Amino acid sequence: MALPLSSLTLFPATPAQVYESRKRSFVQWGRGVSLEAYLRRDARMDNHEVARDGRLTTWYRREGLLANRQEGKNIPQKVFGYGIASVFTPTEHRKKGYARHMMRLLHWILAPKLKLPVGTFPPEWGAPPERPGHIFEAAFSVLYSDVGADFYAQCGPYGESNGGWILTEPTATTWSLPTIFENETLLAAKETGQLAWKWLGGSSTNEIWDADAKLFADEMKTAATGKPIEVTFLPQKGVAGFQYHRLQYFWEKLEPIPKFWSICAQSGSGEDAVDPTTFASWTLDIRPPDENALIITRLRARPEHFLELLAQILEYARQYKVDRVEVWGLPRELRELATSTGGKTFARDDHLSSFKSYLKEKPEDIAWIHNEKFCWC
Ligand SMILES: CC(C)(COP(=O)(O)OP(=O)(O)OC[C@H]1O[C@@H](n2cnc3c(N)ncnc32)[C@H](O)[C@@H]1OP(=O)(O)O)[C@@H](O)C(=O)NCCC(=O)NCCS
Repeated sequence: MALPLSSLTLFPATPAQVYESRKRSFVQWGRGVSLEAYLRRDARMDNHEVARDGRLTTWYRREGLLANRQEGKNIPQKVFGYGIASVFTPTEHRKKGYARHMMRLLHWILAPKLKLPVGTFPPEWGAPPERPGHIFEAAFSVLYSDVGADFYAQCGPYGESNGGWILTEPTATTWSLPTIFENETLLAAKETGQLAWKWLGGSSTNEIWDADAKLFADEMKTAATGKPIEVTFLPQKGVAGFQYHRLQYFWEKLEPIPKFWSICAQSGSGEDAVDPTTFASWTLDIRPPDENALIITRLRARPEHFLELLAQILEYARQYKVDRVEVWGLPRELRELATSTGGKTFARDDHLSSFKSYLKEKPEDIAWIHNEKFCWC
Protein backbone atom coordinates (compact mmCIF):
# COMPACT_ATOMS: atom_id res chain seq x y z
CA MET A 1 0.00 0.00 0.00
CA ALA A 2 1.27 3.49 -0.81
CA LEU A 3 2.16 5.83 2.04
CA PRO A 4 -0.03 8.95 2.34
CA LEU A 5 1.49 11.92 0.45
CA SER A 6 1.37 14.03 3.61
CA SER A 7 3.91 11.70 5.21
CA LEU A 8 6.45 12.23 2.43
CA THR A 9 8.97 15.03 2.22
CA LEU A 10 12.33 15.83 0.61
CA PHE A 11 15.65 16.22 2.36
CA PRO A 12 19.29 15.85 1.30
CA ALA A 13 20.49 12.27 1.57
CA THR A 14 23.29 11.41 3.99
CA PRO A 15 26.43 9.86 2.46
CA ALA A 16 25.19 6.42 3.56
CA GLN A 17 21.83 7.02 1.88
CA VAL A 18 23.53 8.23 -1.29
CA TYR A 19 25.60 5.03 -1.31
CA GLU A 20 22.50 2.90 -0.79
CA SER A 21 20.52 4.68 -3.52
CA ARG A 22 23.39 4.21 -5.98
CA LYS A 23 23.50 0.51 -5.21
CA ARG A 24 19.77 0.34 -5.98
CA SER A 25 19.92 2.34 -9.20
CA PHE A 26 22.83 0.24 -10.50
CA VAL A 27 20.30 -2.22 -11.97
CA GLN A 28 18.97 0.64 -14.10
CA TRP A 29 22.08 2.56 -15.12
CA GLY A 30 25.00 0.21 -14.57
CA ARG A 31 25.25 -0.69 -18.27
CA GLY A 32 28.61 -2.26 -19.12
CA VAL A 33 30.26 -1.79 -15.71
CA SER A 34 30.51 -3.81 -12.50
CA LEU A 35 28.75 -2.57 -9.34
CA GLU A 36 32.14 -1.66 -7.86
CA ALA A 37 33.14 0.35 -10.94
CA TYR A 38 29.72 2.10 -10.96
CA LEU A 39 30.04 3.13 -7.31
CA ARG A 40 33.67 4.17 -7.84
CA ARG A 41 32.74 6.29 -10.84
CA ASP A 42 29.97 8.10 -8.95
CA ALA A 43 32.23 8.61 -5.93
CA ARG A 44 34.87 10.07 -8.25
CA MET A 45 32.28 12.33 -9.91
CA ASP A 46 31.42 13.70 -6.44
CA ASN A 47 34.89 15.25 -6.38
CA HIS A 48 34.78 16.90 -9.76
CA GLU A 49 34.13 20.60 -10.14
CA VAL A 50 30.58 20.00 -11.37
CA ALA A 51 29.67 18.54 -7.95
CA ARG A 52 31.77 20.66 -5.60
CA ASP A 53 30.40 23.02 -2.93
CA GLY A 54 27.07 21.25 -2.71
CA ARG A 55 26.29 21.63 -6.41
CA LEU A 56 25.24 17.99 -6.68
CA THR A 57 22.26 16.59 -4.78
CA THR A 58 21.32 14.36 -7.72
CA TRP A 59 20.17 17.68 -8.99
CA TYR A 60 22.97 19.88 -10.21
CA ARG A 61 23.21 23.57 -9.53
CA ARG A 62 24.67 25.36 -12.50
CA GLU A 63 25.38 28.92 -13.38
CA GLY A 64 23.27 30.38 -16.10
CA LEU A 65 22.49 33.68 -17.76
CA LEU A 66 19.19 35.48 -17.99
CA ALA A 67 18.43 38.37 -20.32
CA ASN A 68 15.09 40.03 -19.61
CA ARG A 69 14.28 42.65 -22.17
CA GLN A 70 10.77 43.14 -20.79
CA GLU A 71 12.44 44.87 -17.87
CA GLY A 72 14.80 46.72 -20.19
CA LYS A 73 17.73 44.69 -18.85
CA ASN A 74 19.78 44.02 -21.94
CA ILE A 75 22.85 43.07 -19.96
CA PRO A 76 22.38 39.41 -19.07
CA GLN A 77 22.54 38.66 -15.37
CA LYS A 78 23.93 35.56 -13.68
CA VAL A 79 21.30 33.22 -12.31
CA PHE A 80 21.22 29.68 -11.01
CA GLY A 81 19.45 26.85 -12.73
CA TYR A 82 19.32 23.17 -11.87
CA GLY A 83 19.72 20.04 -13.97
CA ILE A 84 17.82 17.12 -12.47
CA ALA A 85 19.13 13.62 -13.03
CA SER A 86 18.56 9.99 -12.15
CA VAL A 87 14.91 9.96 -11.08
CA PHE A 88 14.46 6.45 -9.77
CA THR A 89 12.00 4.37 -7.76
CA PRO A 90 13.02 0.81 -6.79
CA THR A 91 10.88 -1.72 -8.69
CA GLU A 92 8.95 -2.89 -5.61
CA HIS A 93 7.76 0.66 -4.82
CA ARG A 94 6.75 1.74 -8.32
CA LYS A 95 3.31 2.97 -9.40
CA LYS A 96 2.44 4.30 -5.97
CA GLY A 97 2.84 7.92 -6.97
CA TYR A 98 6.20 8.41 -5.20
CA ALA A 99 8.24 9.67 -8.15
CA ARG A 100 5.50 12.06 -9.25
CA HIS A 101 5.17 13.47 -5.76
CA MET A 102 8.94 13.77 -5.32
CA MET A 103 9.13 15.83 -8.50
CA ARG A 104 6.24 18.05 -7.42
CA LEU A 105 7.95 18.71 -4.10
CA LEU A 106 11.24 19.50 -5.81
CA HIS A 107 9.81 22.77 -7.18
CA TRP A 108 9.25 23.88 -3.57
CA ILE A 109 12.94 23.49 -2.91
CA LEU A 110 14.27 25.03 -6.11
CA ALA A 111 11.85 27.88 -6.88
CA PRO A 112 12.16 31.31 -5.25
CA LYS A 113 9.86 31.75 -2.24
CA LEU A 114 8.13 34.65 -4.03
CA LYS A 115 7.20 32.35 -6.89
CA LEU A 116 5.91 29.58 -4.60
CA PRO A 117 4.90 31.19 -1.29
CA VAL A 118 4.91 28.67 1.54
CA GLY A 119 1.32 29.65 2.43
CA THR A 120 0.10 28.23 -0.87
CA PHE A 121 1.53 24.75 -0.29
CA PRO A 122 -1.28 22.19 -0.78
CA PRO A 123 -2.42 21.34 2.79
CA GLU A 124 -3.19 17.73 1.85
CA TRP A 125 0.56 17.26 1.26
CA GLY A 126 1.45 18.05 4.88
CA ALA A 127 4.30 20.51 5.47
CA PRO A 128 6.40 21.99 2.65
CA PRO A 129 9.93 20.61 2.35
CA GLU A 130 12.64 22.85 3.75
CA ARG A 131 15.25 24.24 1.43
CA PRO A 132 18.71 23.08 2.61
CA GLY A 133 21.20 25.91 3.08
CA HIS A 134 23.35 24.96 0.10
CA ILE A 135 20.44 25.07 -2.36
CA PHE A 136 20.07 28.46 -4.04
CA GLU A 137 16.87 29.87 -5.48
CA ALA A 138 16.72 28.92 -9.14
CA ALA A 139 15.46 30.78 -12.18
CA PHE A 140 14.69 27.51 -13.94
CA SER A 141 15.35 23.79 -13.95
CA VAL A 142 15.69 21.22 -16.70
CA LEU A 143 15.69 17.47 -17.07
CA TYR A 144 16.03 14.94 -19.87
CA SER A 145 13.12 12.53 -19.80
CA ASP A 146 13.52 8.90 -20.73
CA VAL A 147 9.89 8.19 -19.89
CA GLY A 148 8.19 10.33 -22.52
CA ALA A 149 6.96 13.92 -22.31
CA ASP A 150 3.83 13.49 -20.19
CA PHE A 151 5.14 12.17 -16.88
CA TYR A 152 7.23 15.22 -15.99
CA ALA A 153 4.78 17.71 -17.51
CA GLN A 154 2.24 16.38 -15.03
CA CYS A 155 4.48 17.09 -12.04
CA GLY A 156 3.37 20.66 -11.26
CA PRO A 157 4.01 22.29 -7.87
CA TYR A 158 0.30 22.23 -6.96
CA GLY A 159 -0.44 18.80 -8.39
CA GLU A 160 -1.87 20.42 -11.51
CA SER A 161 -1.59 18.24 -14.60
CA ASN A 162 0.40 20.64 -16.78
CA GLY A 163 2.59 22.64 -14.39
CA GLY A 164 5.76 20.59 -14.61
CA TRP A 165 8.68 20.32 -17.02
CA ILE A 166 7.70 21.03 -20.61
CA LEU A 167 9.23 19.30 -23.61
CA THR A 168 11.52 21.80 -25.33
CA GLU A 169 13.02 21.17 -28.78
CA PRO A 170 14.71 17.81 -28.28
CA THR A 171 16.53 17.92 -31.62
CA ALA A 172 19.56 15.87 -32.60
CA THR A 173 21.64 15.75 -35.77
CA THR A 174 23.61 12.60 -36.54
CA TRP A 175 26.10 11.51 -39.19
CA SER A 176 26.76 7.83 -39.93
CA LEU A 177 30.34 6.76 -40.41
CA PRO A 178 32.10 5.62 -42.50
CA THR A 179 29.69 6.30 -45.41
CA ILE A 180 29.96 10.00 -44.68
CA PHE A 181 33.53 10.07 -45.97
CA GLU A 182 32.29 9.58 -49.52
CA ASN A 183 30.08 12.64 -49.31
CA GLU A 184 31.20 15.10 -51.98
CA THR A 185 30.20 18.24 -50.12
CA LEU A 186 32.30 17.17 -47.17
CA LEU A 187 35.27 16.21 -49.34
CA ALA A 188 35.10 19.60 -51.05
CA ALA A 189 34.91 21.39 -47.70
CA LYS A 190 38.04 19.58 -46.59
CA GLU A 191 39.95 20.37 -49.73
CA THR A 192 39.06 24.02 -49.95
CA GLY A 193 39.28 24.68 -46.20
CA GLN A 194 41.01 27.94 -45.26
CA LEU A 195 41.33 27.61 -41.52
CA ALA A 196 44.24 26.29 -39.46
CA TRP A 197 43.23 24.23 -36.44
CA LYS A 198 44.34 23.73 -32.89
CA TRP A 199 43.57 20.41 -31.21
CA LEU A 200 43.01 20.78 -27.48
CA GLY A 201 43.28 18.51 -24.45
CA GLY A 202 41.14 18.62 -21.30
CA SER A 203 42.45 21.75 -19.58
CA SER A 204 42.65 23.82 -22.77
CA THR A 205 39.09 22.79 -23.48
CA ASN A 206 38.09 24.31 -20.14
CA GLU A 207 39.61 27.59 -21.31
CA ILE A 208 37.60 27.45 -24.52
CA TRP A 209 34.38 26.98 -22.55
CA ASP A 210 35.31 30.03 -20.46
CA ALA A 211 35.73 32.07 -23.64
CA ASP A 212 32.51 30.60 -25.02
CA ALA A 213 30.59 31.66 -21.91
CA LYS A 214 31.75 35.25 -22.43
CA LEU A 215 30.45 35.12 -25.99
CA PHE A 216 27.08 33.86 -24.69
CA ALA A 217 26.84 36.99 -22.56
CA ASP A 218 27.66 39.28 -25.49
CA GLU A 219 25.21 37.57 -27.81
CA MET A 220 22.36 37.72 -25.34
CA LYS A 221 22.39 41.51 -25.46
CA THR A 222 20.33 41.07 -28.62
CA ALA A 223 17.39 38.67 -28.72
CA ALA A 224 18.23 36.12 -31.38
CA THR A 225 15.11 34.09 -30.65
CA GLY A 226 12.76 37.08 -30.73
CA LYS A 227 11.49 36.18 -27.24
CA PRO A 228 11.76 38.90 -24.61
CA ILE A 229 13.44 36.58 -22.13
CA GLU A 230 16.29 34.19 -22.84
CA VAL A 231 18.00 31.86 -20.41
CA THR A 232 20.89 29.47 -20.77
CA PHE A 233 23.24 27.32 -18.76
CA LEU A 234 26.93 28.08 -19.06
CA PRO A 235 29.31 25.33 -20.20
CA GLN A 236 32.17 26.04 -17.81
CA LYS A 237 32.74 25.03 -14.16
CA GLY A 238 32.66 21.36 -14.99
CA VAL A 239 29.25 21.41 -16.67
CA ALA A 240 30.32 20.39 -20.18
CA GLY A 241 33.25 18.39 -18.75
CA PHE A 242 30.84 16.16 -16.82
CA GLN A 243 30.27 13.90 -19.79
CA TYR A 244 33.92 13.46 -20.52
CA HIS A 245 34.53 12.31 -16.93
CA ARG A 246 31.39 10.21 -16.81
CA LEU A 247 32.44 8.07 -19.76
CA GLN A 248 36.11 7.89 -18.82
CA TYR A 249 35.84 4.28 -17.65
CA PHE A 250 35.15 3.34 -21.27
CA TRP A 251 37.24 5.74 -23.34
CA GLU A 252 40.38 5.27 -21.29
CA LYS A 253 40.52 1.69 -22.59
CA LEU A 254 40.91 2.92 -26.17
CA GLU A 255 44.27 2.72 -27.88
CA PRO A 256 45.77 5.20 -28.25
CA ILE A 257 44.05 6.91 -25.30
CA PRO A 258 42.24 9.91 -26.74
CA LYS A 259 44.01 13.11 -25.80
CA PHE A 260 42.01 15.71 -27.72
CA TRP A 261 38.59 16.80 -26.50
CA SER A 262 38.00 19.86 -28.62
CA ILE A 263 39.18 21.64 -31.71
CA CYS A 264 39.33 25.35 -32.26
CA ALA A 265 40.23 27.54 -35.23
CA GLN A 266 43.58 29.26 -34.87
CA SER A 267 43.42 32.99 -34.87
CA GLY A 268 45.68 34.98 -37.20
CA SER A 269 47.86 36.17 -34.34
CA GLY A 270 50.17 33.18 -33.82
CA GLU A 271 50.08 29.43 -33.62
CA ASP A 272 48.95 29.25 -30.02
CA ALA A 273 46.24 31.84 -30.34
CA VAL A 274 42.76 30.43 -30.81
CA ASP A 275 39.55 31.92 -32.08
CA PRO A 276 36.67 30.59 -29.95
CA THR A 277 34.09 31.74 -32.46
CA THR A 278 34.80 28.46 -34.32
CA PHE A 279 35.15 25.41 -32.11
CA ALA A 280 33.62 22.15 -31.00
CA SER A 281 34.07 19.98 -27.89
CA TRP A 282 33.03 16.36 -27.50
CA THR A 283 33.04 13.17 -25.52
CA LEU A 284 33.43 9.60 -26.74
CA ASP A 285 30.67 7.13 -25.89
CA ILE A 286 32.24 3.73 -26.48
CA ARG A 287 30.13 1.15 -24.68
CA PRO A 288 29.95 -2.23 -26.35
CA PRO A 289 27.69 -3.68 -27.65
CA ASP A 290 26.20 -0.33 -28.69
CA GLU A 291 27.59 1.55 -31.65
CA ASN A 292 30.52 3.85 -30.92
CA ALA A 293 29.56 7.50 -30.81
CA LEU A 294 31.35 10.81 -30.69
CA ILE A 295 28.98 13.21 -28.97
CA ILE A 296 29.56 16.88 -29.68
CA THR A 297 28.87 18.63 -26.40
CA ARG A 298 29.20 22.20 -27.64
CA LEU A 299 29.62 23.66 -31.10
CA ARG A 300 30.05 27.19 -32.30
CA ALA A 301 30.59 28.05 -35.97
CA ARG A 302 29.46 30.49 -38.59
CA PRO A 303 27.91 28.83 -41.66
CA GLU A 304 30.98 29.55 -43.81
CA HIS A 305 33.20 27.58 -41.42
CA PHE A 306 30.87 24.84 -40.27
CA LEU A 307 31.65 22.17 -42.89
CA GLU A 308 35.38 22.64 -42.50
CA LEU A 309 35.02 22.15 -38.75
CA LEU A 310 32.77 19.14 -39.24
CA ALA A 311 35.28 17.50 -41.60
CA GLN A 312 37.95 17.77 -38.89
CA ILE A 313 35.72 16.25 -36.21
CA LEU A 314 34.69 13.37 -38.46
CA GLU A 315 38.33 12.56 -39.23
CA TYR A 316 39.11 12.45 -35.53
CA ALA A 317 36.10 10.19 -34.97
CA ARG A 318 37.36 7.82 -37.64
CA GLN A 319 40.48 7.03 -35.56
CA TYR A 320 38.29 5.57 -32.84
CA LYS A 321 36.07 3.53 -35.14
CA VAL A 322 33.13 5.75 -34.35
CA ASP A 323 29.88 4.72 -36.06
CA ARG A 324 27.91 7.88 -35.29
CA VAL A 325 28.65 11.53 -34.62
CA GLU A 326 25.85 13.31 -32.80
CA VAL A 327 25.09 16.88 -31.86
CA TRP A 328 22.04 18.31 -30.08
CA GLY A 329 20.35 21.61 -30.79
CA LEU A 330 22.34 22.41 -33.93
CA PRO A 331 21.61 26.08 -34.75
CA ARG A 332 18.98 26.40 -37.48
CA GLU A 333 21.33 28.19 -39.87
CA LEU A 334 23.61 25.12 -39.87
CA ARG A 335 20.97 22.43 -40.35
CA GLU A 336 20.74 22.65 -44.13
CA LEU A 337 24.51 22.41 -44.40
CA ALA A 338 24.39 19.37 -42.13
CA THR A 339 21.84 17.78 -44.45
CA SER A 340 24.04 18.48 -47.47
CA THR A 341 26.71 16.24 -45.91
CA GLY A 342 24.32 13.39 -45.17
CA GLY A 343 23.51 14.49 -41.60
CA LYS A 344 20.01 13.81 -40.32
CA THR A 345 18.22 16.24 -38.03
CA PHE A 346 15.24 14.88 -36.08
CA ALA A 347 13.31 15.14 -32.83
CA ARG A 348 14.80 12.68 -30.33
CA ASP A 349 12.52 10.14 -28.71
CA ASP A 350 14.75 9.74 -25.68
CA HIS A 351 16.55 12.12 -23.32
CA LEU A 352 13.73 14.58 -24.01
CA SER A 353 14.91 18.08 -23.05
CA SER A 354 12.29 19.50 -20.68
CA PHE A 355 12.21 22.92 -19.06
CA LYS A 356 10.51 24.46 -16.05
CA SER A 357 10.65 28.21 -15.43
CA TYR A 358 10.51 29.76 -11.96
CA LEU A 359 10.37 33.28 -13.37
CA LYS A 360 7.29 35.41 -12.96
CA GLU A 361 6.93 35.97 -16.71
CA LYS A 362 4.73 33.81 -18.92
CA PRO A 363 6.40 30.57 -20.17
CA GLU A 364 5.66 31.51 -23.79
CA ASP A 365 7.85 34.62 -23.41
CA ILE A 366 10.87 32.62 -22.28
CA ALA A 367 13.38 30.86 -24.54
CA TRP A 368 15.87 28.27 -23.29
CA ILE A 369 18.82 28.85 -25.58
CA HIS A 370 21.84 26.57 -26.13
CA ASN A 371 19.69 23.54 -25.42
CA GLU A 372 22.62 21.29 -26.32
CA LYS A 373 24.27 18.19 -25.00
CA PHE A 374 26.76 20.10 -22.83
CA CYS A 375 24.13 20.69 -20.16
CA TRP A 376 22.74 17.14 -20.16
CA CYS A 377 23.03 15.29 -16.85
C1 LIG B 1 10.02 6.41 -14.01
C2 LIG B 1 9.94 6.02 -12.54
C3 LIG B 1 10.89 6.91 -11.73
C4 LIG B 1 8.52 6.24 -12.05
O1 LIG B 1 8.49 5.94 -10.67
P1 LIG B 1 7.12 5.65 -9.89
O2 LIG B 1 7.38 5.93 -8.45
O3 LIG B 1 6.63 4.32 -10.25
O4 LIG B 1 6.17 6.75 -10.53
P2 LIG B 1 4.70 7.15 -10.09
O5 LIG B 1 4.06 6.04 -9.32
O6 LIG B 1 4.73 8.47 -9.45
O7 LIG B 1 4.04 7.31 -11.47
C5 LIG B 1 3.88 6.16 -12.31
C6 LIG B 1 3.83 6.70 -13.70
O8 LIG B 1 5.15 6.77 -14.22
C7 LIG B 1 5.06 6.84 -15.63
N1 LIG B 1 6.05 5.95 -16.19
C8 LIG B 1 6.83 5.06 -15.54
N2 LIG B 1 7.66 4.46 -16.40
C9 LIG B 1 7.40 4.97 -17.60
C10 LIG B 1 7.95 4.76 -18.90
N3 LIG B 1 8.95 3.91 -19.10
N4 LIG B 1 7.43 5.48 -19.91
C11 LIG B 1 6.45 6.38 -19.71
N5 LIG B 1 5.89 6.62 -18.51
C12 LIG B 1 6.37 5.92 -17.47
C13 LIG B 1 3.68 6.41 -15.97
O9 LIG B 1 2.95 7.56 -16.31
C14 LIG B 1 3.12 5.81 -14.70
O10 LIG B 1 1.76 5.97 -14.69
P3 LIG B 1 0.82 4.63 -14.72
O11 LIG B 1 0.95 4.07 -13.35
O12 LIG B 1 -0.49 5.22 -15.03
O13 LIG B 1 1.37 3.72 -15.77
C15 LIG B 1 10.29 4.51 -12.31
O14 LIG B 1 9.51 3.75 -13.18
C16 LIG B 1 11.75 4.19 -12.52
O15 LIG B 1 12.56 4.29 -11.61
N6 LIG B 1 12.08 3.77 -13.74
C17 LIG B 1 13.44 3.40 -14.07
C18 LIG B 1 14.37 4.61 -14.10
C19 LIG B 1 13.91 5.65 -15.08
O16 LIG B 1 13.63 5.35 -16.24
N7 LIG B 1 13.86 6.91 -14.61
C20 LIG B 1 13.47 8.02 -15.40
C21 LIG B 1 14.64 8.65 -16.00
S1 LIG B 1 14.22 10.11 -16.90
